[in-house]
Amino acid sequence: MSASTAPFVTIVEVSPRDGLQNEPRLLPAAVKVALVDRLSAAGFRAIEVTSFVSPKAVPQMADAAEVMAAIHRVPGVRYSVLTPNLRGFEAAAAARADAICVFGSASETFSQRNINCSIAESLERFRPVVAAARARGIAVRGTVSCALGCPYEGEIAPAVVARVAGELLAMGCDELSIADTIGIGTPDGTRRVMEAVLAVTEVARLNGHFHDTYGRALANIDACLDLGLRSFDASAAGLGGCPFAPGATGNVATELVLERLAARGFATGIDLAAVREAG
Ligand code: HMG
Ligand code: MG
Repeated sequence: MSASTAPFVTIVEVSPRDGLQNEPRLLPAAVKVALVDRLSAAGFRAIEVTSFVSPKAVPQMADAAEVMAAIHRVPGVRYSVLTPNLRGFEAAAAARADAICVFGSASETFSQRNINCSIAESLERFRPVVAAARARGIAVRGTVSCALGCPYEGEIAPAVVARVAGELLAMGCDELSIADTIGIGTPDGTRRVMEAVLAVTEVARLNGHFHDTYGRALANIDACLDLGLRSFDASAAGLGGCPFAPGATGNVATELVLERLAARGFATGIDLAAVREAG
């Protein structure tokens, strides 16, 4: 298949955010900016740059505004950020984010540990954020963490994932990211969860976010591709993890995802050699 006729898959490069948030050593903003600029040059159409969250919760993201102000924006690239509340949204809008992400969970305990509120409270908190973003023409992603299992609660029912996903959609999220926060998912489990979510939305709105703790992320992405998903998060060099999810190692490495997609005949528009260098 030629590149021009190959079906397209969007890779959202999350290393500057999910990759670096877990880095124990505080990195200078200039290093983060240099990473984002390299990723822009590598051909990504979507980059998750940073988070407008409490600096006490995630010290590494305290320089979010500084990073957003200094990146070199390539036209056509969507620069997105995480926003847990209205305060984060206002800062994101001031920083000219193209898209924001409200991040919820299918696990009550993870919700408490990550954003200090219940699932129901988080949805109430997200509602005005999503409305404000839509009013300003800023795209909105809603994430459902622990969709394949929780570091505190273990198994999570696909029906709960679908319920949270449905609520995020109903409040106006454009895209849903279904996240295997601790990389515990299997292809069968992934299929079950995605099928449950597909009962509440169309496949074009779904993104898969897989951590690779047990080396199954590529197999899980394969299962998603078979269901028709065409958007995945990935992280250069497999950087990543969540400070509130013990045992969560990095996101699936972008380099591995690009190789797998190429082998399966999908186009991404991304330069693998440039990603290797950035990583
Ligand atoms: P809280 O303590 O309930 O909130 O935290 P609060 O409103 O009481 O505020 C606490 C402090 O944070 C106050 O400061 C606020 O001013 C400040 P203090 O008075 O103590 O000095 N604050 C803020 N500062 C900057 N920006 C803001 C902001 N909001 C409050 N937006 C809160 C609730 C959500 C704020 C907190 O828990 C938080 O920031 N959590 C962030 C968690 C996070 O970033 N986790 C990692 C990202 S999620 C992830 O990695 C999963 C994902 O990859 C998918 C997957 O793999 O599953 C996306
Ligand atoms: Mg993650």
